[in-house]
Amino acid sequence: MEKKLNAAQLIELESRCGAHNYHPLPVVLERGCGVYVWDVDGKPYFDFLSAYSAVNQGHCHPRIVEAMTDQAHKLTLTSRAFHNDKLGPYEEFATRYFGYDKLLPMNTGAEAVETALKLCRKWAYEKKGIAKGEAKIVTCEGNFHGRTISIVSFSVDPDAFDGYGPYTPGFVTVPYNNVEALKELLENDPTIAGFLVEPIQGEAGVFVPDEGYLKACYDICRQHNVLFIADEVQTGIARTGRLLACDYEDVHPDILILGKALSGGSYPVSAVLADNEIMEVIRPGQHGSTFGGNPIAACVAVVALEVVKDEKLAENANRLGEIFREEMNKLCATSSVASYVRGKGLLNALIINNDKHKDLAWDICLKLAVNGLLAKPTHTNIIRFAPPLVISEDQLRECIDIIVKTVREFE
Ligand SMILES: Cc1ncc(COP(=O)(O)O)c(C=O)c1O
Repeated sequence: MEKKLNAAQLIELESRCGAHNYHPLPVVLERGCGVYVWDVDGKPYFDFLSAYSAVNQGHCHPRIVEAMTDQAHKLTLTSRAFHNDKLGPYEEFATRYFGYDKLLPMNTGAEAVETALKLCRKWAYEKKGIAKGEAKIVTCEGNFHGRTISIVSFSVDPDAFDGYGPYTPGFVTVPYNNVEALKELLENDPTIAGFLVEPIQGEAGVFVPDEGYLKACYDICRQHNVLFIADEVQTGIARTGRLLACDYEDVHPDILILGKALSGGSYPVSAVLADNEIMEVIRPGQHGSTFGGNPIAACVAVVALEVVKDEKLAENANRLGEIFREEMNKLCATSSVASYVRGKGLLNALIINNDKHKDLAWDICLKLAVNGLLAKPTHTNIIRFAPPLVISEDQLRECIDIIVKTVREFE
């Protein structure tokens, strides 16, 4: 019989044989169900990262697993050289669900962002009339849209871009949450084709822009015939308490980018949605992916989206998010360690005062794990809390107690 490796051995294996492009918490997980995950020693944890908001529907949601395994027994991949019987129904379902004419299926978030950038550039040349090769796309300081060469070309985070040049040209950066900066740029540069924005900057540390920011940017884009491109890979699909974070301001993006929770975290599924006027600039042979739109992905995405509505996950995220921030505010009011909390729905961040100890947020996360809750710092002093949206109020309150107790241990 094969000998079962222990946690230390598994971590050592990864370290020896795998690239060191991540710095995981020293926890080795082998099972998940709903809001819980278990490590190889059988210890349970509340998952407060949800695979960076991919597992909104909870780990191993039975309906999603069933859809995936049923289809896996039938047909897994055809490529787009042929039709499959699941793609069309998925596209019809998802376009109705989000209110667009068409969907372009991809696999990862970064691929969907790349797709949106290509769509935007091609639209600029074919529809807006910008001279070939001149189109620019505006991005925001603090952005995170993935890891491809083009995407890191407009990152302002040295960890993301340093050492990967030469960079892709054609991007201009404006400060986030600054309507005037965008306005000035668009008024003075007719070669701007699109504005790519995260409705809340997740990786940057859950930066929530001022109320009205998205709508104002959207209106300015409208005025200048510039496409408003929303990257809702992390904020989308109920995470922030609405189906899309843009819904808070009644903004319907010209191009919508989705990933992560589109599969409930079970399978890599991403998508770009747009209306015909935009989507039809890409014609056969001009863009694609072997796995994009495969029948398993199509089945999984339909059920993952059904679960969001059937289980009222946006409503749950909205209600429980209020409780979470209220309780964290109480903690921050009397804590020398926790400074403040910010977020929307169940995408929140606790800002840690690390003046005296640079690695304090990391140490708190290690202690949280010992106490049965998994979370990870982003940008040294920020701890993101993003549990699966199927969490109940009782479970959330239990988790709040764990967080409060753990933070208190560092006072
Ligand atoms: C807003 C946003 N866009 C894109 C991505 C990239 O997604 P993926 O890691 O699936 O390529 C992420 C990942 O965290 C993200 O948060």
